[in-house]
Amino acid sequence: MYTDPINLELEARRSLQRMLPRLEAQLAGQITTAPQIWADFRKRLEAQLPTLFALYHHLYARRYDFFYHFENLLQALAQAAFERSPDLRALDQEREARPDWFQSNQMVGGVCYVDLFAGNLAGLRNQIPYFKELGLTYLHLMPLFKMPAGENDGGYAVSSFREVDAPLGSMAELAGLAQELRAQGISLVLDLIINHTSNEHEWVQRARAGDPEYREIYGIFPDRTVPDAYGRHLRDIFPDEHPGAFTWDEGLQSWIWTTFHSYQWDLNYANPMVFNKMAAELLFLANQGIEIFRLDAVAFIWKELGTGCENLPEAHLILQGFNALTRIAAPAVLFKSEAIVHPDDVVKYISPQECQLSYNPLLMALLWNTLATRNVNLLAQALASRFKLPPGTAWVNYVRCHDDIGWTFADDDAARLNINGHDHRQFLNEFYRGRFPGSFARGLPFQENPRTRDCRISGTCASLAGLEKALAEEGPAEVDLAIRRIALIYSLVMTAGGVPLIYLGDEIGTLNDYSYLDHPDHKRDSRWVHRPRASREQYARRSNPAEVAGRVYRHFQEVIALRKATAALSGGELEVIDAENEHVLCFSRTSHDQRVVIFANFTEVEQTIAPKILQQNHLLQKPMRHGSGRLGADGSLTLPPLAFVLLG
Ligand code: GLC
Ligand code: GLC
Repeated sequence: MYTDPINLELEARRSLQRMLPRLEAQLAGQITTAPQIWADFRKRLEAQLPTLFALYHHLYARRYDFFYHFENLLQALAQAAFERSPDLRALDQEREARPDWFQSNQMVGGVCYVDLFAGNLAGLRNQIPYFKELGLTYLHLMPLFKMPAGENDGGYAVSSFREVDAPLGSMAELAGLAQELRAQGISLVLDLIINHTSNEHEWVQRARAGDPEYREIYGIFPDRTVPDAYGRHLRDIFPDEHPGAFTWDEGLQSWIWTTFHSYQWDLNYANPMVFNKMAAELLFLANQGIEIFRLDAVAFIWKELGTGCENLPEAHLILQGFNALTRIAAPAVLFKSEAIVHPDDVVKYISPQECQLSYNPLLMALLWNTLATRNVNLLAQALASRFKLPPGTAWVNYVRCHDDIGWTFADDDAARLNINGHDHRQFLNEFYRGRFPGSFARGLPFQENPRTRDCRISGTCASLAGLEKALAEEGPAEVDLAIRRIALIYSLVMTAGGVPLIYLGDEIGTLNDYSYLDHPDHKRDSRWVHRPRASREQYARRSNPAEVAGRVYRHFQEVIALRKATAALSGGELEVIDAENEHVLCFSRTSHDQRVVIFANFTEVEQTIAPKILQQNHLLQKPMRHGSGRLGADGSLTLPPLAFVLLG
């Protein structure tokens, strides 16, 4: 018999009409006590349901139990909406009314580990005055969920998304902290580790106990047939630990899909139960007051035979599904994608319907590239061709985070500038490992692949920028240059557009900490070299301008104050200007009818910009708002070594 092709819009409406009475019956008590919550929920549900339904249908329609899972999902959404606190519901309305709030030049982000920065959540709460002093409006706490006691990938192996790791505090304390931060104008950001759980998670335990529903939550294979078939197309992510993406499990006598460490079991999103379970965890955390989720390792969440299992279209559908359901049950929530992949793929995660925010790994890598080469061409090209984002979205710009630095520029972009990508990466690795003649950096290799000799780089901002070497071997002139390098790249991050993110510790010039080598659970992972315990003594020195910590800190204070006072720096509108000097990056920023122009000298010597550049950009009468450039009588601009100058 003939059937019409499915009209998803119509089916979405029809499904809603069928399910609403059932939902209303189930929730009758709550609807009577809180009719307004129900009314708001229904409104949002009706607006978003066609989107959510279409995504879910696309992902799961071939499952005979599709409708059962979809109805469960809607129930969970309604339940979460009723559980949302009054102040979070007020926040929902505020953010719906001002969806571009995160584009403001007032935004400044910081990220730290709870234990390393302040011991525990109570200690962290005591640091709020410091966060205010620094001007933070966004605080990302590194994973703090229940985790295995030994190796746990810095918390990225989660044993329960609903429990805080006991030494750090409790979920109630976390919710209290979120509320307190919000009252102080700081949004709390947490990771949602969506690709995997630890092998100690309750779901793993139930799978181990033989529950068939739970076995389907992970990728569990009795022999090598399927793993080998997939494996042919996969990249090694942690080759130090295990080649390929599978780990043998004695207990289950099976191969487990483990993209990262063998104790991190990948979730199987082809199963709608996994989508629903993670949606429930997400909403639970949103209701604790988490405003922004850093979605970890998003590139890997969907697997398809015959592909590299990275950045597949379905990965986007899952994220869009999560986005649609937060619009229904917790609309204040934003997503930030962590996709440290080819620049063509990074941008695919960014849209108001998917991740409104994204790390900008390209800018990060190219800032370090430019410090090493003293040539701005690759960076200028990236800013000109890859920086613009759709309205309603923003980059999170950073120079360091808890992870290694990978050189994720596009080989094609490099080739256009006659740079061989492969060779250039080798150079950068040598440079930042401190092995290239004249290098100022002290970095360590991470995940050196014995097969390809490829690696990534670990190290703190200060050590990579030369401060460690200068202090140990070289003396005041080099110390000064290292501080200028730190100030230069952080100033660019503060002014380029989007949300700047400080890896806390960088603002006081924290050096590499090699003591991780004595720690049995850390010594195999060089990323711990840039995850030191915060030194309160060094933090105390931040107010002393004679100390290195104080000198670095002063630069941060100045450029943050500049950012907050300059409306042109909000939003993400950036135009690259050719300053006709390959050592100087130049660009303008425009917003709120204001325009400013920035010059950044990436060399250790003075650079001069020709008068015509200033003329053409109407800069001759403009005040120098930041930095110590010299405007010559002829209209030229002379930039001191490693100077950052803002005119306008
Ligand atoms: C992300 C984290 C990284 C972790 C990995 C696995 O890339 O940033 O630290 O190792 O995910 O969870
Ligand atoms: C890989 C992943 C990235 C992760 C990193 C951890 O590069 O692509 O997501 O941050 O490993 O080192």
